[in-house]
Amino acid sequence: MPPLEVRRWQHVERLAIRSLESFGYEEIRLPLLEPTELFSRGLGEATDAVEKEMYNLLDRDGEQLSLRPEGTAGCVRACLQHGLIFNQTQRLWYRGAMFRYERPQKGRYRQFEQIGAEAFGMPGPDVDAELIQLSAELFRSLGVLSELRLELNTLGSATCRRSYRDALVAFLTPHKDALDADSQRRLTRNPLRILDSKEASTQALLAGAPVLADHLDPESRSHFDGLRRMLDELQIGYVVNPRLVRGLDYYTHTVFEWMTDALGSQGTVCAGGRYDGLVEQLGGRATPGAGFAIGVDRLVLLHEALAGDFSVEPIDGYCVVLEPAHVSWAMGVCQRLRDALPWLRLRLSAGGGKLKNQLKRADVSGADWALIIGEDEVADGEITLKWLRADAPQERLSQTALIARLAARMDGGH
Ligand code: HAM
Repeated sequence: MPPLEVRRWQHVERLAIRSLESFGYEEIRLPLLEPTELFSRGLGEATDAVEKEMYNLLDRDGEQLSLRPEGTAGCVRACLQHGLIFNQTQRLWYRGAMFRYERPQKGRYRQFEQIGAEAFGMPGPDVDAELIQLSAELFRSLGVLSELRLELNTLGSATCRRSYRDALVAFLTPHKDALDADSQRRLTRNPLRILDSKEASTQALLAGAPVLADHLDPESRSHFDGLRRMLDELQIGYVVNPRLVRGLDYYTHTVFEWMTDALGSQGTVCAGGRYDGLVEQLGGRATPGAGFAIGVDRLVLLHEALAGDFSVEPIDGYCVVLEPAHVSWAMGVCQRLRDALPWLRLRLSAGGGKLKNQLKRADVSGADWALIIGEDEVADGEITLKWLRADAPQERLSQTALIARLAARMDGGH
């Protein structure tokens, strides 16, 4: 990734992290490799992520490992290992590369970056609302919120989901032949995902299918109503999409996605929801959890589409050294300047050369000014300051005066 692109990534990541920290979330760092079993148990054997998209490898001692396809399962594993969950609440965030063997296209890659947030130990809809508010705030700070719409659904408790699953299978089985091939396969393995199908014939069939809302128990309904009421009070707009089921098996109750039309077919920039059964599923005591993950590659693409070009910020100064014998003296001067002026970005000319050539390099660097260190300067313990972008006279200054001069320059004017 070239530096110019990195600058945009840094900008996006910095603002994202600022939002997470401002809500009191704390960073957790997670490994890239985990036992394969963590994902098959956590995300579900029959999910695309586990069944078709994992990068698996055998360790030397025969242990089956996988590059993480997502962060939630690893986060739960780490929390259990470090005793962070039992009898406590946690608000955590993480970032890093995830790996899925998908068909690459714009916005969909085999290695991609996520920034995720997970909250443990809080069963109510308030934390679901907080996570959504946090993601909205993050998008607002980046100037992309207006291009995103929030889709929301509830899957109800595990019991509701099971009862709905049975009803859906009972409805679809007599019409199996009208389903597309993928959906036929899913009918026994992962029927809820059929609701996600883009095939027209399947969609037509689904028009008459039972809806999950009819299978919600009062508790699930009240959780969802509570969340909707809070979002309304927060004036966060959303659309309830009863077909939103998500691709990972661990979700219960709330699921949501932030989507945009500005990126073509890969328009989901952030997705998440509640997963009250996952901690227990992975060997801990039953603990509620909820979270989201942002696809940073997509967020960066969206920022680029909306904010336009991101220019390189040039360095401030460039230090020209005329004699190789004076390079280490110049390095000492540069370091004193960096220590005194923490904002300073100062580059030392390496490789020597004539004054003219070094000044040309200083000009290309975009620096505002150059320091010139020659024999006379070293003898007097002074430095020559040359303005590169302004019509101002060259100055010869002591190191102390130079620091004061550059500090004043930072405050405005020459
Ligand atoms: P996910 O929907 O699988 O959820 O991924 C979250 C986001 O990661 C997607 O909305 C998308 O922006 C991005 N993403 C996924 N796959 C790719 C890809 N191949 N290329 C580029 N971006 C991609 C999860 O991963 C859950 N762990 C989210 C979560 C956290 N739920 C609760 N807590």
